[in-house]
Amino acid sequence: MFTDRLKTELTVTSPGRINIIGEHTDYNNGYVLPAAIDKTIIFKLGRNHTETLCRIYSEGFGEMVEIHLDSITKKTSGWENHMLGVLHEIIQITDKLKGFDCSIKSHLPVGSGVSSSAALECGLAFGLNELFDLGLDSWDIIKLSQKAEHEFVGTKCGIMDQFASVMGKKDHVMLLDCMTFDYEYIPMDIAPYQILLLNTNVAHNLASSEYNIRRSQCEKGLEILQKKFGARISFRDVTQSMLDDCKDEMGEIIHQRCFYVIDENKRVFQAVEALKQHDLLQFGQLLYQTHEGLRHDYEVSCPELDFLVDFSKDRKEVLGARMMGGGFGGCTLNIIHKNAIADFVKDATRAYQNEFSRELTYFQTVPSDGTTIIRKK
Ligand code: GLA
Repeated sequence: MFTDRLKTELTVTSPGRINIIGEHTDYNNGYVLPAAIDKTIIFKLGRNHTETLCRIYSEGFGEMVEIHLDSITKKTSGWENHMLGVLHEIIQITDKLKGFDCSIKSHLPVGSGVSSSAALECGLAFGLNELFDLGLDSWDIIKLSQKAEHEFVGTKCGIMDQFASVMGKKDHVMLLDCMTFDYEYIPMDIAPYQILLLNTNVAHNLASSEYNIRRSQCEKGLEILQKKFGARISFRDVTQSMLDDCKDEMGEIIHQRCFYVIDENKRVFQAVEALKQHDLLQFGQLLYQTHEGLRHDYEVSCPELDFLVDFSKDRKEVLGARMMGGGFGGCTLNIIHKNAIADFVKDATRAYQNEFSRELTYFQTVPSDGTTIIRKK
């Protein structure tokens, strides 16, 4: 087997991420509050002493891809594009990258909104940086991974996922300003409550196309605002009355999208404040409000996600819940009392199965460290 034959010089672990609040705000120059998680992708890497041959084996898919650094072209779809994109971006920056072998084992559910994509991109970039001493810093890795996603995968994502995967810190969430890239680690102290993810197992197929549509709707909205109020403003400067002044020109849909973004930016700060004050009831309510915004104004939810969030509202042991990530499927994030998890999962699974004839899966997670080396030969 490829993995057994591989002459491993380096083992890297690259985490997925959760986002507590601040959804669809990153590409709108707004604020987010993500964390890396304890579910990761493991990369084993070794040089193969060729100039250009890169062999990457995915244990999960049982698939091997061979890439030549001198002829990188985008494929129509698939996980390979993440790898191709990263390699393409690296060779734009440096000529130190040479042939290597790599084996990948993922412990992250694909398409569930915990950003296995960013984990894949950042893990590879991080590992190659170490293996070939490329001289990239964390921001280079974050930015080039995001670019790989834009150019090769086709999702015009923001910076949050790649940032969280690389910069995560155990037991902390990160308040990131996606305009200035300033950030602050905040202790995620919610005991006796914990984070539970319920996976709808609805793969978010629409995610990429609808995601890009949302992004361009917001860009149009901002353009209209800037024409009226000055080219330097961003959503964080826009008040409700400024937005309403532009409503006729924007039309209903774009107005709604912008309304959500402005509101969500404010909620991020309210949530940070609540977290710092240990006001967990308020913290939970803000998550519910975000879900309503994503459901009705931003329109990126789906019936399965709505059902799970509504289901949680009848349970006082759940302080807050919302869909997480790009949307159209994936997981809900729940803040739940630790003693209630087993019963809640049992009841939610039954109710979900009855409603959709679909399996519900779940996992608990905690804020964890970002991409790191776990072994070096
Ligand atoms: C995806 C993108 C992120 C972010 C979220 C929504 O995960 O990759 O950049 O926009 O959706 O908050």
